[in-house]
Amino acid sequence: MLAVILAPFYLALNYYLYKRSFSWLTVCIHIIHPDKIRFCYRILYWITGFSLLIAFVLPQSRLQRIFKILSNYWIGIFFCALFLAAAGDLIGLFIPKKDQSILAAAGVMILAAVLVFTVYGSIHARHIDTTDYVVTVDKACAGRKELRVALVADLHLGYNSGLSQVKKIVKQINQGKPDLVCIAGDIFDNEYRAVKDPEKIEKELGKIQSTYGTYACWGNHDIGEKILGGFTFGTKKASDNDRQMEELLSRSGIRLLDDKTILIDGAFYLAGRKDSSKARKIGELRRGAKDLLKDCDLTKPVIVMDHEPKEFKQLSEAGADLDLSGHTHDGQIFPGNKPSRMAGPHTLTRRSSVHAALAGLVDGSLTADLPREDSMCLQNNLWEVPPLV
Ligand SMILES: [Fe+2]
Repeated sequence: MLAVILAPFYLALNYYLYKRSFSWLTVCIHIIHPDKIRFCYRILYWITGFSLLIAFVLPQSRLQRIFKILSNYWIGIFFCALFLAAAGDLIGLFIPKKDQSILAAAGVMILAAVLVFTVYGSIHARHIDTTDYVVTVDKACAGRKELRVALVADLHLGYNSGLSQVKKIVKQINQGKPDLVCIAGDIFDNEYRAVKDPEKIEKELGKIQSTYGTYACWGNHDIGEKILGGFTFGTKKASDNDRQMEELLSRSGIRLLDDKTILIDGAFYLAGRKDSSKARKIGELRRGAKDLLKDCDLTKPVIVMDHEPKEFKQLSEAGADLDLSGHTHDGQIFPGNKPSRMAGPHTLTRRSSVHAALAGLVDGSLTADLPREDSMCLQNNLWEVPPLV
């Protein structure tokens, strides 16, 4: 519904960008002359502008994949160009005498900036950083003084993230020599069919090594839905897509915790929550924090995976010591990352807690109690990948 409401705005902003870029092009081609350029530009612009819709309506094919990837890049390019064009127009209000050379020069600068941002963003999106956190939980953990937890979230496997990204992530996880690996949702990007080489990806995920294994919970995008410009068009029930997603995890040796809590090695608990958004869409009820942890011996550490970082208070009151989440993507891109980071620590208990929201395709957030004596140290490695422009 929101997509339908926003569609006229998208069209209007596209029209504005088209007009501005066309004016610039008109000035330029006045200099270099080829008249057919105008016609070609019109066609090219609107095919690209409508690439989201074209990819949405095309049947599954190579052409549809090309349009989908094009539209994903276009979203970034569009907002970057729109922002710069609007800034240029604002600056233009203060320039009393504008001639065509100023417009031509401004256009060249905007085009160059968009190109630089796009190339930089594309390279940056494929780079993986890790962030280390040391979190101390004030509970004894049988036989262990330290637990190394690798947290990964928001892989969004699909058109723009695939085998090569998974290979890098698996390599980094294994280099960290974790005891436990948690994948906190949004493993897929709504369309299972978008995953290229699923057999190779499941083989790769199966190479993750840790003492206690790899566990996952679902995120809001781990559901078979059609997606248009980031907006999903829902389903009322679990689809074949969902089953394929689950089967891929299972074949990779990844254990799905879908509103389940398990005791690991008799030492600590790990719970995985249903994603609230996915549960609502497919008509399932998500267990409350108290219900989920009701059978836990709260003298042992309790770790919870919950894709969306919320319900800290309820989780804390139910006995959770650590909440591992993803979803925020660190505000996606600048300046969205600013309010996301300013949100700072969230409160998990009355004492204190830490929260870290990370960037990008693989991101995570973490909440935990701060140190007290005789405590167990949970070292969390969070993989950080900035998003595509
Ligand atoms: Fe999410």
